[in-house]
Amino acid sequence: MYDFSERNIVVTGAAQGIGRAIAEAFLKNNARCVVLLDWNQEKVLETQKELDPEGNRTLACGVDVSDQEKVHEVFTALYEKLGRIDVLVNNAGINRDGMFHKMTSEQMHAVMNVNFFGTYNCTAEVIKAMRDQEYGRIINISSTSAHGNVGQANYAASKAAVNGLTRTLALESARKNITVNAVEPGFIDTDMLRTIPADKLEARLKAIPPQRFGQPEELAASVLFLASDEASWVNGHIMITSGATKVV
Ligand SMILES: NC(=O)c1ccc[n+]([C@@H]2O[C@H](COP(=O)([O-])OP(=O)(O)OC[C@H]3O[C@@H](n4cnc5c(N)ncnc54)[C@H](O)[C@@H]3O)[C@@H](O)[C@H]2O)c1
Repeated sequence: MYDFSERNIVVTGAAQGIGRAIAEAFLKNNARCVVLLDWNQEKVLETQKELDPEGNRTLACGVDVSDQEKVHEVFTALYEKLGRIDVLVNNAGINRDGMFHKMTSEQMHAVMNVNFFGTYNCTAEVIKAMRDQEYGRIINISSTSAHGNVGQANYAASKAAVNGLTRTLALESARKNITVNAVEPGFIDTDMLRTIPADKLEARLKAIPPQRFGQPEELAASVLFLASDEASWVNGHIMITSGATKVV
């Protein structure tokens, strides 16, 4: 159990899957306020009701993290309402898989826009205030695919870019008591996993030593550690959370 009772937390892509599990875990660990952002407005409001029926420990909002202007509007409103943001979890992500020689420019740009530029847009909104308040925790959800994965050139490139941003921002921000880390999930049982054809999924399962997919809550546990005060000396780290699955 961690103490987030003084912390305002923003989680992107929080309507379902890993993001939802992260939001729920922060609430279970006493977070002062958890902000759920997602481009699926209907679903994120539904999730908010399920996680916080009274509606006094959460805020929820529909926003596409790749839309820089809208992201700016949302974060401006959040700072007005909350005064400060202590933790940002850049979790929103998509895949548009295909072999590179068949991949369209739209597939490449869509994935880069959400996975990398979405992370950039939200991070750019909090970094100055975190420097001023001399406290911040940024956790980016990357992927083991960052190391290369057939059919995922766009996705792998976007997550490798996230890793580079993570390591560099950690170096630049450490003196201001800000940590910037990433988590690289292996296969986690969410809707994203179900976009992989069944025969390929079966083969992937065989390569996972515990012979099962990870659960969103098991990924959330890594995020909570990195967001905690206890992780103050962990900075610029890319934490593989994959049930010992070999990455390359
Ligand atoms: N599931 C896995 O096996 C796995 C493995 C490695 C990495 N990841 C990463 O974990 C993160 C969460 O994935 P998941 O498995 O929970 O997927 P998911 O598809 O179940 O959930 C993703 C959530 O992000 C939201 N979202 C997508 N694009 C958005 C945008 N532009 N703006 C705002 N919200 C947006 C979706 O509406 C959805 O609620 C992603 O960054 C993904 O790349 C997942």
